Amino acid sequence: MKAIVIDRFGGPDELHEVQLPDPRPEPGQVRVRVEAIGVNPIDGKVRSGAMASPDATFPIVFGAEAAGVVDELGEGVTDVARGDRVVGFAVGGAYAELAILDTYAAVPDSLDLTAAVSLPVAGETARRVLRLLGLKPGETLLVHGASGAVGEVVTQLALAAGASVVGTASAANQERVAALGATPTTYGEGWLERVRALAPHGVDAVLDTSGAGVLDDSVKLLGNADRLVTIADPTAFAKGITFSSGGERSATDLAQLVRQRASGEITTTVSRVLPLVQAATAQELSDSGRAGGKLVLVP
Ligand SMILES: NC(=O)c1ccc[n+]([C@@H]2O[C@H](COP(=O)([O-])OP(=O)(O)OC[C@H]3O[C@@H](n4cnc5c(N)ncnc54)[C@H](OP(=O)(O)O)[C@@H]3O)[C@@H](O)[C@H]2O)c1
Repeated sequence: MKAIVIDRFGGPDELHEVQLPDPRPEPGQVRVRVEAIGVNPIDGKVRSGAMASPDATFPIVFGAEAAGVVDELGEGVTDVARGDRVVGFAVGGAYAELAILDTYAAVPDSLDLTAAVSLPVAGETARRVLRLLGLKPGETLLVHGASGAVGEVVTQLALAAGASVVGTASAANQERVAALGATPTTYGEGWLERVRALAPHGVDAVLDTSGAGVLDDSVKLLGNADRLVTIADPTAFAKGITFSSGGERSATDLAQLVRQRASGEITTTVSRVLPLVQAATAQELSDSGRAGGKLVLVP
């Protein structure tokens, strides 16, 4: 199969096309003919070497999530059949014509696979951080980066659970955050004062998806770090602030997110769909932190 890989750490230019042996599904896994691949900021962090595992071996195939048509079943798989459209978490990468999924959900015909592929990583992360924050109906959540792939889903799930959300985003994305039902404000200089003015009774919990140096002021806003979680700022470790990563993948949760996305109960913004051969362009955009929504590659 064709795949896009790196043979060493570096910039997006390191990404190149190769032929790899077709992967085979293990028990409980399915193989899909890939139709959509989700690009995540972690792809660029691993590519640069900043967040690579110490035992990483080359070539590295990126991609944590893919959607496509099942073309081979691992032993014991009975919940989907060849020809079914599914989305899920990829094992061993997804920037390729074929991918192995170990946690997956069926996608109804009414939902485009490029939209479905925005759900696994963002959805799992959103559900995990909301559990950690223990948000209750009537409370107010501040989301730093409410216009991002994770921020958008967190915001909608929090609102659906009866909370209020104040969400930061760039000037260009204020209307998009407001359309989700949140109170938008811009990030950057002065955000703390703007949020205080928008939530005069205070904020109960804060999620940082931006990694943009907002933790200290978020502690000031909350009064302590008990209900502050970041998924993007590693300075949290030294500060005793919760950094959440690596959640448990659940096919049931993913199926629910697919249903919610298909019914319009939640929305996700796909900002660009690019051919897989333009993976370098997609990662460059993702690295910039201003993807403007989910970036999707199609083989
Ligand atoms: N730990 C985990 O489990 C986990 C899981 C998933 C993702 N992540 C990490 O979480 C982060 C977000 O992921 P994502 O996929 O949602 O990325 P994304 O779609 O690129 O979203 C980035 C968000 O950050 C905002 N932003 C950019 N510059 C900012 C600044 N200076 N101050 C405040 N906000 C700013 C963006 O707003 P505009 O677009 O409006 O400029 C956007 O809302 C990434 O670092 C990713 O690696 C971690």
